[in-house]
Amino acid sequence: MLRIRLSEGSWLFLAGPLRARVVRGCVEVFGWEFHEGSCFSISRLRSAPLLAKRESELELEVLGREGGYVTEPVDTPLIPEEWRRASERIVAEAVSRRSTTVFVVGDVDTGKTGFITYLANRLLFAGRSVYVIDCDVGQQDISYPTCIGLGKVTRPIVHLSEVEMVDAFFIGRTSPAGVFERIVYGVSYLSRRAAEEGADVIIVDTTGWVRELGRELKVFKLLTLSPDFIVLIEREKELEFVRALTRRVQKSEILSVPASPMLRARTREERREIRESIFRSAFEGARTITLKLHELSILYGYLGSGLLKRVGERICEEHPEFVYVFSEKPLSQQETQALETALGKKVKVITPDVLENWLVALVDENMHFLGLGVVLRYDAEKDELTVLTRAPAEKVAGLMWGHMKVTPDGKEVAWLSPWSI
Ligand SMILES: Nc1ncnc2c1ncn2[C@@H]1O[C@H](COP(=O)(O)OP(=O)(O)O)[C@@H](O)[C@H]1O
Ligand SMILES: [Mg+2]
Repeated sequence: MLRIRLSEGSWLFLAGPLRARVVRGCVEVFGWEFHEGSCFSISRLRSAPLLAKRESELELEVLGREGGYVTEPVDTPLIPEEWRRASERIVAEAVSRRSTTVFVVGDVDTGKTGFITYLANRLLFAGRSVYVIDCDVGQQDISYPTCIGLGKVTRPIVHLSEVEMVDAFFIGRTSPAGVFERIVYGVSYLSRRAAEEGADVIIVDTTGWVRELGRELKVFKLLTLSPDFIVLIEREKELEFVRALTRRVQKSEILSVPASPMLRARTREERREIRESIFRSAFEGARTITLKLHELSILYGYLGSGLLKRVGERICEEHPEFVYVFSEKPLSQQETQALETALGKKVKVITPDVLENWLVALVDENMHFLGLGVVLRYDAEKDELTVLTRAPAEKVAGLMWGHMKVTPDGKEVAWLSPWSI
């Protein structure tokens, strides 16, 4: 246990995992005040800035072995003055009108999520109902990797992952590459959902992909949402293309702020570790359910969307481009050729190992997200797909094929291209 005395106006950089208790005084973390006796924690691979609002004393339990640490108190602000001013501008606008959309853009590790945490707390304090859409399909804080999530901020947060998930939209992979239209549709769907829920403010967090083709995605999200505010988090004017868009035709108000002076950046390996632990949580308490594949709406893949038919001994699923043939074992070359001749099309054989651990998402009849799932097997005779999921079977109306394989304990075991099943 560590005890730290802080003079008024000094800052501490806190890297998790750690737990803090305010013994005396008052401190502010991401714009929320914690008074004497209150506690908060910061988890592994995350950090937060702390400001002593007056002379204060803290009790800290820092798990150093897992990478937690605390810096010496510093006088230079860890929340830039511009973050405070931009938030005040947004709060002032949000208290006087019915709905406000804020779009946050920045490169990787500039503190986008940190800024949103700060802004969300300030808006919550002002009594607004705040919803956040997290578009980062790789490092998802609200729903699960491969999805974009909608969350409601119901209490103060020290990290965005503490918000309560309201809905999600499945994208199918942990990168937006090749599936931009899903992200653009998904963000529009989730902002509609937030409006239905009565959101006063919708804040949109984005991926750090701001260069090259990443611009395309940013521009289409912006045109789709037409936000009231665009917050640009920049190191050195790398987001000029957004200003260029808004010079004349797109009338959002731009608020420029600098990147976080200090944050806990994550390595590729750490990002993967975070993803795996969230995937694992998606399957905690999951059950095995059986779905009639050809009675569901099918998205993002062929399987389940063609005509089932029997050819001799075998069950096939016919598509204009090819025919799936279901078999327990791989077919011999002769048998494949015979089938191709009989059917006049290319044959693709689906053995049980092809489908095992295939990631899917299940939705209800309104496309509301019910849960991720991993495929265990498909019985073509009975048209029964067995899936491990937390989704309630009776509500499942649609299945979306993902483009990766994940084991129920969260391991990413294969990456596939869109429409490969
Ligand atoms: N100003 C800040 N001071 C301390 N920690 C911060 C600050 N801004 C962000 N962080 C933390 O650093 C980590 C990475 O920053 P994040 O905001 O997620 O970056 P980005 O969203 O741009 O990738 C997160 O745990 C976040 O809470
Ligand atoms: Mg982020």
